[in-house]
Amino acid sequence: MTNNKIKHGGNLREAAKQYNIPLENWIDLSTGITPRPWRVSKIPSYVWQRLPESDDDLLAVAQAYYACDDLLPIAGSQIAIQSLPYCRKRSRVAIVSPCYAEHPYWWQKAGHEVLFISADDVEQYLPSVDVLLLINPNNPDTHFWTVDTLQQWYQQLSAHNGWLIVDEAFMDSTSERSLLNHYRHMPRGLVVLRSIGKFFGLAGIRLGFIAAASNILQKIEAMQGPWAVSHPARYLGQQALSDQKWQENNRKFLREQSKKLHILLSRYFKDVDTCHYFCFLRHHQSIDIKHQLAKKGIWIRYFEDFNAIRFGLPANSKEFQRLDDCFSIIFR
Ligand SMILES: Cc1ncc(COP(=O)(O)O)c(C=O)c1O
Repeated sequence: MTNNKIKHGGNLREAAKQYNIPLENWIDLSTGITPRPWRVSKIPSYVWQRLPESDDDLLAVAQAYYACDDLLPIAGSQIAIQSLPYCRKRSRVAIVSPCYAEHPYWWQKAGHEVLFISADDVEQYLPSVDVLLLINPNNPDTHFWTVDTLQQWYQQLSAHNGWLIVDEAFMDSTSERSLLNHYRHMPRGLVVLRSIGKFFGLAGIRLGFIAAASNILQKIEAMQGPWAVSHPARYLGQQALSDQKWQENNRKFLREQSKKLHILLSRYFKDVDTCHYFCFLRHHQSIDIKHQLAKKGIWIRYFEDFNAIRFGLPANSKEFQRLDDCFSIIFR
């Protein structure tokens, strides 16, 4: 059963109903998914008809793309988020917060002790926790950790059989900063999650990867069962991961759009945190801003727990203009 209490972006149908604005009139800035997705090619009929086969080229293409051999394709990185807590006996798990709420939810559900810690406090917890989990760059607050720092933390954790789990769902536009570049083979206790949803804009096909040593990959593979990654997802994943020209263009697009969004938002707010996929800010009137924008058909993500809002990237200059126009009215 899914947990309806965890809020997510991308719920445009709910917005359309709540504000009585037709679906097609919305600008959806509620996710961190690139607004210009990799264009899906025609899928041959055998792909729809035949069961997926794990000895196709997907793994080899992914191993080249991620520069790492110890990978398992999964039906979205969400599968790893749900399964990893069942790969350890009851543990003390520190999760850097604010964070993607599915992480703490699944560790708690599996009976672990979860500590919500801030980015500044990690070092003091390292000796006493079994697992450190963080998202790099962080969703939602865009915090970025260096590879050096993470490697030091991993060494400290692995000295007492601890794990470091790094969710790199938003790393593709800065792949030079990925931990995976440093581990053709994953050492025990280091786990990295990757998603096809964000950078490629293919959240709907449900494809992601977990990189880890074989003891963990085997457990996740057994939990996931056969055919969990659909044949169309495997087919499209292979193509998207090998389309280097598109990847290069998209990196440039994300860099430019995020810079533009940062500049626009900084005209109205102070302390705007930005990564290539979204901007995040804390504001005492966050709920009002979300509501005012929604009345104009712009859907953003509101975080009730810490009075903050997150803006995904507008797709084009028309969308930027509409956002700017709305702010001019709200703050006039
Ligand atoms: C930080 C983070 N990790 C993982 C996921 C899950 O992504 P997927 O299952 O589509 O790969 C999300 C989805 O929003 C996310 O924000």
